[in-house]
Amino acid sequence: MYTLVKGTHDIILKEASKYSYVEGLLQKIAESFGYKEFRTPIIENTELFARSSGESSDIVRKEMYTFMDKGDRSISLRPEGTAGVIRCMVNEKVFINQDYPVKAFYCGPNFRYERPQKGRFRQFNQFGVECCGVTSPYRDAETIILGYDSLMFLGFKNLTLKINSLGDDETRTNYCNALREYFKKYVDNMCDDCKERYKTNVLRILDCKVDEDRKIIENAPKIQDFYSDATKDSFNKIQEFLKLQNIPFEIDDTLVRGLDYYSGVVFEYHYTTKSGLNVGAIGAGGHYGKLIPELGGPNIEGVGFAIGIERVVSVLEDDNLLDNHDDPLDTYIMPIGENNFSKALEIANYLRVNGYSSDVCLENKGVGQMFKKAERRDALYALILGDDEVKNNTINLKNLTSQEQKNIKLDDLLKTLDHLFGEDDDCDDDCCKHE
Ligand code: HAM
Repeated sequence: MYTLVKGTHDIILKEASKYSYVEGLLQKIAESFGYKEFRTPIIENTELFARSSGESSDIVRKEMYTFMDKGDRSISLRPEGTAGVIRCMVNEKVFINQDYPVKAFYCGPNFRYERPQKGRFRQFNQFGVECCGVTSPYRDAETIILGYDSLMFLGFKNLTLKINSLGDDETRTNYCNALREYFKKYVDNMCDDCKERYKTNVLRILDCKVDEDRKIIENAPKIQDFYSDATKDSFNKIQEFLKLQNIPFEIDDTLVRGLDYYSGVVFEYHYTTKSGLNVGAIGAGGHYGKLIPELGGPNIEGVGFAIGIERVVSVLEDDNLLDNHDDPLDTYIMPIGENNFSKALEIANYLRVNGYSSDVCLENKGVGQMFKKAERRDALYALILGDDEVKNNTINLKNLTSQEQKNIKLDDLLKTLDHLFGEDDDCDDDCCKHE
């Protein structure tokens, strides 16, 4: 037996269909907002993440899976999707060839060497969007609304949307100066991470989770006192727009986010289940002013977010908001005797190309055993095919819920199934009348 790598998990069977359902729905909603899919590699040059997420971020300092490849290049498994998508947009000249804003969505695994706990894995899946090329508070608000609507569509009620603004350059320069001044007298007694943050990115200190440090952080200067006029104007417009769209939110001035590329508005979606399960933010994002030029693109800005699929599935399950999305098997074909296997396969293929899922028992079992198998596979209908049926070009169709069984002509099989599955409303042939 080989065990799983710590912090990873298998996603199989019914659980996997829940993931597909959630990802599929998020994709459809993003498409309805005009987003197009981007698929980028899971490995990138380490430099990309150091440059984008920031040398001072926990992600780059402690959490990346980095290795030297056989060509002596430093490679990292992606810890998040934004950097790779922007790199791809620049490389593929999307900013030259496409109309603005360029709207991308993506989905897939990410890797962070974090302490595994409920809702926190070392390999986890994200669905994310990036909207690049237009700088407008309304685009920021639209992106926040997309995330909110997507989660509401999935069944979340009473989401808490937290927003903050990290301001423009002027705001952050003044604020960081004030923070450096404030923390100067405390930093020697703070945790080692904070000592490091003080030197590399003082804003990061606000993200510290150590209790003793939190007490000091509580009295630190507040960013809103340093907002430039442009920041105030833009943040007010976002709030007004959210109110007009009836999106409830709260302002959280401690929200700084764990990645260095943000400027302007940042946001997180939180949710606590009825049983009190809180897995942290289920989705989060923000505006980035410098990331695109830093990665070699034009001087344009972007905004985006990512939703953690593991967290979504886990809280939806906890609140019973995720029904069984595992599609049942439409038909299970039961050939009696090996000499009828070939005909059974032929019928199965015919049904599959006509849109019905179908499986065949090719194990030479007795009828009773085949019925048990059909039941275990959640089949809706059994199709029993013996020598007489093959000779007469008929088949026995049994509804496995009502147990009703009838013998029908093979030529009528598709018509009958269409009727039973509600695909053929005005069929008035004999085959359908007795249902
Ligand atoms: P993030 O806040 O690091 O942002 O991650 C987004 C979401 O991914 C989190 O809210 C959480 O649901 C999920 N997540 C993060 N880490 C883990 C983990 N270890 N296990 C399970 N789920 C996790 C970003 O990644 C940014 N790229 C979002 C963004 C896009 N900003 C702009 N565009």
